[in-house]
Amino acid sequence: MSDSAESLQASWSAWKTQVEAALAKCLSEESGLGGECPPRLREAMSYSLLAGGKRLRPVLVLMACEACGGDSEAALPAACALEMIHTYSLIHDDLPAMDDDDYRRGRLTNHKVFGEALAILAGDALLTLAFEVTARDVRPSSVAAACCADLAFAAGACGMVGGQVADLEAENQSVPRPLGSGPIESSQTTGPLPNGRGTESLTHLQSIHRRKTGRLIRSAMTIGGRVAQADVATLGTLDHYGTCIGLAFQIADDVLDVTGTQDKLGKGVGKDAGLGKLTYPGLIGLDRSRQMAQELIDEACLAIAPWGERGQRLAAMARFVLERDH
Ligand code: IPE
Ligand code: IPE
Ligand code: MG
Ligand code: MG
Ligand code: MG
Repeated sequence: MSDSAESLQASWSAWKTQVEAALAKCLSEESGLGGECPPRLREAMSYSLLAGGKRLRPVLVLMACEACGGDSEAALPAACALEMIHTYSLIHDDLPAMDDDDYRRGRLTNHKVFGEALAILAGDALLTLAFEVTARDVRPSSVAAACCADLAFAAGACGMVGGQVADLEAENQSVPRPLGSGPIESSQTTGPLPNGRGTESLTHLQSIHRRKTGRLIRSAMTIGGRVAQADVATLGTLDHYGTCIGLAFQIADDVLDVTGTQDKLGKGVGKDAGLGKLTYPGLIGLDRSRQMAQELIDEACLAIAPWGERGQRLAAMARFVLERDH
């Protein structure tokens, strides 16, 4: 592991511990949700929110804040809020009406344990709690309002929810690959797009991924910058970096669905082809997918290159997005 990757892992694990303690507090009866929350609902929310996961988005919030000279502790409420929204999106994404998955973060999915009604409501409650925590605990209130607006835009109809709708609408629109045709070959990396789809499909796929996954990751960067009261130019740089790694992250997720293991990922693999999802490997093959993600990572690193030393961890994070196996 390179020096910068090692230093990233060290600060990541320290921040992860901090985020997990803060998330647990947000759900507690004493200093979080309060006593009127039905016990079974609290349990369902805790089951998914406190189940581990990489905590990539909250750690990015803290990292962005620090890179802009801010106090990462002040960014903790907004970081937790983003992780709540992400977790809600996972609970709903796994429902039978959506991707119908049985495993998430190394355990049974929320609806498998609590039933669909409670899983839907636990997701709703996490989304709502995210805005309560941000509005109440981010200071000053003008920054809290700006963070709420970033989160709402990223999560809403033009962001994650819109992207999820487009993802479902794109299911089974392709010419199916014949059963038993084996893994997607790297020979699909040049020439016309496989599956009889044109370049407009690639543009559409990019737009789905930018919205369903990219927007929340991008918001991690702008929220961190806002808490640090970064200037407009700096926010623009964070936005650009976040846009690039956000799309690269979902391309890598698509690739890992083909090449990864359930053991490492904590969720089922090979699901996308089964559902007829529009994905990067399905459309352009594994090698070209990796190449496109690499170009996005290079672009993200270029955006923060003028920051020198203070951008080092963000550069290492960008590389992780592509190199990860989980
Ligand atoms: C999974 O996100 C869902 C996508 C947007 C691809 P993560 O890979 O960040 O999942 P956790 O939070 O580590 O479980
Ligand atoms: C999920 O994309 C994006 C979300 C908004 C949750 P996927 O459906 O590919 O995520 P996984 O593979 O189930 O984690
Ligand atoms: Mg999905
Ligand atoms: Mg899914
Ligand atoms: Mg996936």
